[in-house]
Amino acid sequence: MTKTIGSAVLDATRQLALAGIEGAHLDARILMSSVLKVAPHQASLLGGNFLDKTQLERFGEVIQKRLSRVPVSHILGYRDFFEHRFFVTPDVLDPRPETELLVVEALKESCQNVLDLGTGSGCILLSLLAKNLSAQGLGVDISEAAIAVARKNAKNLHLQNRAHFSLSNWFSNVEKQKFDLIVANPPYIHPNQLERLSPEVLKEPMMALTDNEDGLGSFKKIAMSAQKFMAVGARLVFEIGYDQGPLVAEILNTSGFQDIRVVPDLNGCDRMITCCSK
Ligand SMILES: C[S@@+](CC[C@H](N)C(=O)[O-])C[C@H]1O[C@@H](n2cnc3c(N)ncnc32)[C@H](O)[C@@H]1O
Repeated sequence: MTKTIGSAVLDATRQLALAGIEGAHLDARILMSSVLKVAPHQASLLGGNFLDKTQLERFGEVIQKRLSRVPVSHILGYRDFFEHRFFVTPDVLDPRPETELLVVEALKESCQNVLDLGTGSGCILLSLLAKNLSAQGLGVDISEAAIAVARKNAKNLHLQNRAHFSLSNWFSNVEKQKFDLIVANPPYIHPNQLERLSPEVLKEPMMALTDNEDGLGSFKKIAMSAQKFMAVGARLVFEIGYDQGPLVAEILNTSGFQDIRVVPDLNGCDRMITCCSK
Protein backbone atom coordinates (compact mmCIF):
# COMPACT_ATOMS: atom_id res chain seq x y z
CA MET A 1 0.00 0.00 0.00
CA THR A 2 1.25 3.49 -0.80
CA LYS A 3 0.21 6.65 0.94
CA THR A 4 1.13 10.30 0.76
CA ILE A 5 2.66 11.94 3.81
CA GLY A 6 -0.37 14.25 4.05
CA SER A 7 -2.95 11.44 4.05
CA ALA A 8 -0.91 9.34 6.51
CA VAL A 9 -0.79 12.31 8.91
CA LEU A 10 -4.53 12.90 8.45
CA ASP A 11 -5.44 9.24 9.12
CA ALA A 12 -3.18 9.15 12.19
CA THR A 13 -4.70 12.41 13.47
CA ARG A 14 -8.19 10.89 13.22
CA GLN A 15 -7.07 7.74 15.07
CA LEU A 16 -5.36 9.71 17.84
CA ALA A 17 -8.29 12.11 18.21
CA LEU A 18 -10.75 9.18 18.39
CA ALA A 19 -8.62 7.73 21.20
CA GLY A 20 -9.11 11.03 23.08
CA ILE A 21 -5.55 12.30 22.65
CA GLU A 22 -5.34 16.08 22.89
CA GLY A 23 -3.19 17.80 20.27
CA ALA A 24 -3.61 14.82 17.92
CA HIS A 25 -2.61 16.69 14.76
CA LEU A 26 0.53 18.18 16.29
CA ASP A 27 1.57 14.78 17.66
CA ALA A 28 1.00 13.12 14.27
CA ARG A 29 3.08 15.83 12.54
CA ILE A 30 5.93 15.59 15.06
CA LEU A 31 6.00 11.79 14.78
CA MET A 32 5.93 11.97 10.98
CA SER A 33 8.81 14.46 10.99
CA SER A 34 10.84 12.05 13.13
CA VAL A 35 10.20 9.23 10.63
CA LEU A 36 11.21 11.50 7.74
CA LYS A 37 14.12 12.93 9.78
CA VAL A 38 13.10 16.51 9.01
CA ALA A 39 11.86 19.43 11.14
CA PRO A 40 8.07 19.38 11.85
CA HIS A 41 7.38 22.41 9.61
CA GLN A 42 9.16 20.66 6.74
CA ALA A 43 6.96 17.56 7.12
CA SER A 44 3.94 19.79 6.35
CA LEU A 45 5.61 21.05 3.15
CA LEU A 46 6.16 17.48 1.93
CA GLY A 47 2.46 16.50 2.22
CA GLY A 48 2.10 15.40 -1.43
CA ASN A 49 5.14 13.08 -1.40
CA PHE A 50 4.71 9.33 -1.05
CA LEU A 51 6.09 7.39 1.92
CA ASP A 52 8.21 4.35 1.09
CA LYS A 53 7.37 0.99 2.69
CA THR A 54 9.86 1.36 5.56
CA GLN A 55 8.67 4.87 6.39
CA LEU A 56 5.03 3.76 6.34
CA GLU A 57 5.77 0.85 8.68
CA ARG A 58 7.81 3.01 11.02
CA PHE A 59 5.06 5.65 11.13
CA GLY A 60 2.52 2.90 11.91
CA GLU A 61 4.71 1.71 14.81
CA VAL A 62 5.12 5.13 16.41
CA ILE A 63 1.41 5.90 16.04
CA GLN A 64 0.58 2.59 17.76
CA LYS A 65 2.85 3.59 20.65
CA ARG A 66 1.13 6.96 20.88
CA LEU A 67 -2.28 5.23 20.83
CA SER A 68 -1.15 3.24 23.87
CA ARG A 69 -0.60 6.68 25.51
CA VAL A 70 3.20 6.70 25.45
CA PRO A 71 4.14 10.43 25.46
CA VAL A 72 5.67 11.75 22.23
CA SER A 73 8.90 12.65 24.03
CA HIS A 74 9.28 9.08 25.33
CA ILE A 75 8.76 7.69 21.83
CA LEU A 76 11.37 10.05 20.38
CA GLY A 77 13.73 10.30 23.38
CA TYR A 78 13.84 14.09 23.13
CA ARG A 79 11.77 17.24 23.46
CA ASP A 80 12.38 20.54 21.71
CA PHE A 81 12.25 23.29 24.34
CA PHE A 82 12.91 27.00 23.85
CA GLU A 83 15.87 27.00 21.43
CA HIS A 84 17.32 23.54 21.99
CA ARG A 85 16.65 19.82 21.81
CA PHE A 86 16.71 18.08 25.21
CA PHE A 87 17.29 14.40 25.81
CA VAL A 88 14.49 13.11 28.06
CA THR A 89 13.66 9.81 29.73
CA PRO A 90 10.71 8.72 31.92
CA ASP A 91 12.86 9.88 34.90
CA VAL A 92 12.27 13.56 34.16
CA LEU A 93 9.33 15.86 33.57
CA ASP A 94 8.67 16.30 29.88
CA PRO A 95 9.63 19.99 29.38
CA ARG A 96 6.45 22.01 28.77
CA PRO A 97 5.87 24.93 26.37
CA GLU A 98 4.51 27.01 29.29
CA THR A 99 7.87 26.68 31.06
CA GLU A 100 9.44 28.46 28.07
CA LEU A 101 7.64 31.56 29.39
CA LEU A 102 9.63 31.26 32.61
CA VAL A 103 12.83 31.28 30.54
CA VAL A 104 11.63 34.36 28.64
CA GLU A 105 10.75 36.13 31.91
CA ALA A 106 14.09 35.22 33.51
CA LEU A 107 15.97 36.49 30.45
CA LYS A 108 14.50 40.00 30.81
CA GLU A 109 17.47 40.89 33.02
CA SER A 110 21.01 39.61 32.71
CA CYS A 111 22.38 37.21 35.30
CA GLN A 112 25.78 35.78 36.18
CA ASN A 113 25.12 33.09 38.77
CA VAL A 114 21.90 31.08 38.50
CA LEU A 115 20.38 28.42 40.73
CA ASP A 116 17.72 26.11 39.25
CA LEU A 117 15.81 24.23 41.95
CA GLY A 118 14.24 20.96 40.74
CA THR A 119 16.18 21.06 37.50
CA GLY A 120 14.78 17.83 35.96
CA SER A 121 16.15 17.62 32.40
CA GLY A 122 18.05 20.87 33.02
CA CYS A 123 15.93 22.59 30.37
CA ILE A 124 15.50 25.90 32.26
CA LEU A 125 19.07 26.31 33.49
CA LEU A 126 20.67 25.26 30.20
CA SER A 127 18.39 27.53 28.14
CA LEU A 128 19.38 30.46 30.38
CA LEU A 129 23.10 29.70 30.21
CA ALA A 130 22.99 29.29 26.43
CA LYS A 131 21.70 32.88 26.21
CA ASN A 132 23.91 34.40 28.95
CA LEU A 133 27.33 33.53 27.63
CA SER A 134 29.30 34.59 30.69
CA ALA A 135 26.92 33.14 33.28
CA GLN A 136 27.33 29.97 35.24
CA GLY A 137 24.77 27.96 37.10
CA LEU A 138 23.86 25.17 39.44
CA GLY A 139 20.92 22.83 38.95
CA VAL A 140 19.77 20.66 41.86
CA ASP A 141 17.26 17.87 42.06
CA ILE A 142 16.23 15.26 44.58
CA SER A 143 16.30 12.63 41.83
CA GLU A 144 19.68 11.14 40.97
CA ALA A 145 18.30 9.89 37.64
CA ALA A 146 17.19 13.42 36.75
CA ILE A 147 20.66 14.79 37.55
CA ALA A 148 22.16 12.24 35.13
CA VAL A 149 19.78 13.41 32.38
CA ALA A 150 20.57 17.09 33.07
CA ARG A 151 24.33 16.38 32.92
CA LYS A 152 23.91 14.61 29.59
CA ASN A 153 21.99 17.61 28.23
CA ALA A 154 24.69 20.00 29.46
CA LYS A 155 27.27 17.97 27.59
CA ASN A 156 25.14 17.75 24.44
CA LEU A 157 24.80 21.54 24.46
CA HIS A 158 28.51 22.09 25.27
CA LEU A 159 27.58 23.82 28.52
CA GLN A 160 29.19 21.35 30.95
CA ASN A 161 31.88 23.86 31.96
CA ARG A 162 29.32 26.43 33.10
CA ALA A 163 26.46 24.19 34.25
CA HIS A 164 26.92 22.14 37.39
CA PHE A 165 24.44 19.73 38.89
CA SER A 166 24.05 18.16 42.28
CA LEU A 167 21.71 16.01 44.26
CA SER A 168 19.95 18.13 46.85
CA ASN A 169 16.68 18.41 48.74
CA TRP A 170 16.07 22.02 47.70
CA PHE A 171 18.95 23.90 49.44
CA SER A 172 20.19 21.04 51.64
CA ASN A 173 23.31 20.41 49.56
CA VAL A 174 23.85 23.88 48.07
CA GLU A 175 27.07 25.54 49.27
CA LYS A 176 26.65 29.00 50.86
CA GLN A 177 26.93 31.53 48.03
CA LYS A 178 24.94 34.41 46.57
CA PHE A 179 23.01 33.81 43.37
CA ASP A 180 21.62 36.72 41.37
CA LEU A 181 18.81 34.57 39.96
CA ILE A 182 16.94 31.59 41.39
CA VAL A 183 14.46 29.79 39.15
CA ALA A 184 12.18 26.91 40.02
CA ASN A 185 9.36 24.95 38.47
CA PRO A 186 8.59 22.88 41.56
CA PRO A 187 5.96 20.12 41.87
CA TYR A 188 2.80 22.18 42.49
CA ILE A 189 -0.17 19.96 41.69
CA HIS A 190 -2.55 19.34 44.61
CA PRO A 191 -2.79 15.56 45.21
CA ASN A 192 -6.60 15.82 44.81
CA GLN A 193 -6.12 17.04 41.23
CA LEU A 194 -4.01 14.08 40.12
CA GLU A 195 -7.03 12.02 39.06
CA ARG A 196 -7.89 14.68 36.45
CA LEU A 197 -4.52 14.34 34.70
CA SER A 198 -4.11 12.52 31.38
CA PRO A 199 -2.57 9.01 31.28
CA GLU A 200 0.58 10.52 29.69
CA VAL A 201 1.11 12.98 32.55
CA LEU A 202 0.57 10.23 35.10
CA LYS A 203 3.49 8.33 33.52
CA GLU A 204 5.80 11.16 34.62
CA PRO A 205 7.70 10.95 37.93
CA MET A 206 5.23 11.62 40.76
CA MET A 207 7.85 13.73 42.60
CA ALA A 208 7.90 16.06 39.57
CA LEU A 209 4.15 16.59 39.73
CA THR A 210 3.04 16.88 43.35
CA ASP A 211 4.42 17.71 46.78
CA ASN A 212 1.87 15.26 48.26
CA GLU A 213 0.76 18.10 50.53
CA ASP A 214 -1.43 20.90 49.17
CA GLY A 215 0.53 21.93 46.07
CA LEU A 216 2.11 24.84 47.98
CA GLY A 217 4.60 22.89 50.12
CA SER A 218 7.57 23.34 47.75
CA PHE A 219 6.97 27.10 47.47
CA LYS A 220 6.90 27.41 51.27
CA LYS A 221 10.11 25.40 51.75
CA ILE A 222 11.99 27.26 49.01
CA ALA A 223 10.76 30.72 50.11
CA MET A 224 11.81 30.03 53.70
CA SER A 225 15.51 29.55 52.80
CA ALA A 226 16.00 31.29 49.47
CA GLN A 227 17.07 34.74 50.71
CA LYS A 228 20.14 33.25 52.42
CA PHE A 229 21.35 32.29 48.94
CA MET A 230 20.47 35.53 47.18
CA ALA A 231 22.40 38.76 46.68
CA VAL A 232 20.47 41.92 47.64
CA GLY A 233 17.94 42.65 44.86
CA ALA A 234 18.44 39.19 43.31
CA ARG A 235 15.43 37.71 41.53
CA LEU A 236 13.39 34.61 42.26
CA VAL A 237 11.15 33.32 39.45
CA PHE A 238 8.69 30.48 40.08
CA GLU A 239 6.38 28.68 37.71
CA ILE A 240 3.00 28.32 39.46
CA GLY A 241 -0.39 26.66 38.89
CA TYR A 242 -3.20 28.64 37.21
CA ASP A 243 -4.97 29.26 40.56
CA GLN A 244 -1.94 29.77 42.81
CA GLY A 245 -0.99 33.44 42.16
CA PRO A 246 -2.47 35.03 45.32
CA LEU A 247 -1.46 32.08 47.53
CA VAL A 248 2.18 32.01 46.40
CA ALA A 249 2.31 35.84 46.54
CA GLU A 250 1.25 35.60 50.19
CA ILE A 251 3.94 32.98 50.92
CA LEU A 252 6.60 35.22 49.35
CA ASN A 253 5.32 38.28 51.18
CA THR A 254 5.43 36.47 54.52
CA SER A 255 9.01 35.35 53.75
CA GLY A 256 10.06 38.98 53.26
CA PHE A 257 10.38 39.22 49.47
CA GLN A 258 9.61 42.47 47.65
CA ASP A 259 8.38 43.55 44.18
CA ILE A 260 6.15 40.48 44.00
CA ARG A 261 4.47 40.21 40.60
CA VAL A 262 2.20 37.49 39.19
CA VAL A 263 2.73 37.00 35.44
CA PRO A 264 -0.08 35.49 33.34
CA ASP A 265 0.39 33.13 30.39
CA LEU A 266 -1.02 33.69 26.89
CA ASN A 267 -4.44 32.43 28.07
CA GLY A 268 -4.50 35.02 30.86
CA CYS A 269 -4.02 32.40 33.62
CA ASP A 270 -1.50 32.85 36.45
CA ARG A 271 1.66 31.08 35.27
CA MET A 272 4.67 32.64 36.99
CA ILE A 273 5.54 34.77 39.93
CA THR A 274 8.63 36.92 40.25
CA CYS A 275 10.03 38.79 43.22
CA CYS A 276 13.26 40.22 44.62
CA SER A 277 15.24 39.61 47.77
CA LYS A 278 15.63 42.44 50.30
C1 LIG B 1 7.89 20.13 37.75
S1 LIG B 1 9.44 19.28 37.68
C2 LIG B 1 10.41 20.50 36.84
C3 LIG B 1 11.55 19.94 36.02
C4 LIG B 1 12.23 20.98 35.13
N1 LIG B 1 12.76 22.07 35.91
C5 LIG B 1 11.25 21.52 34.11
O1 LIG B 1 10.78 22.66 34.27
O2 LIG B 1 10.94 20.80 33.16
C6 LIG B 1 9.96 19.40 39.37
C7 LIG B 1 11.32 18.83 39.67
O3 LIG B 1 11.59 19.05 41.06
C8 LIG B 1 12.24 17.91 41.59
N2 LIG B 1 12.01 17.89 43.04
C9 LIG B 1 10.91 17.51 43.71
N3 LIG B 1 11.09 17.65 45.03
C10 LIG B 1 12.34 18.15 45.21
C11 LIG B 1 13.11 18.51 46.36
N4 LIG B 1 12.62 18.37 47.58
N5 LIG B 1 14.35 18.99 46.16
C12 LIG B 1 14.85 19.12 44.90
N6 LIG B 1 14.17 18.79 43.79
C13 LIG B 1 12.93 18.31 43.93
C14 LIG B 1 11.64 16.75 40.82
O4 LIG B 1 12.44 15.60 40.88
C15 LIG B 1 11.47 17.34 39.43
O5 LIG B 1 12.61 17.09 38.65
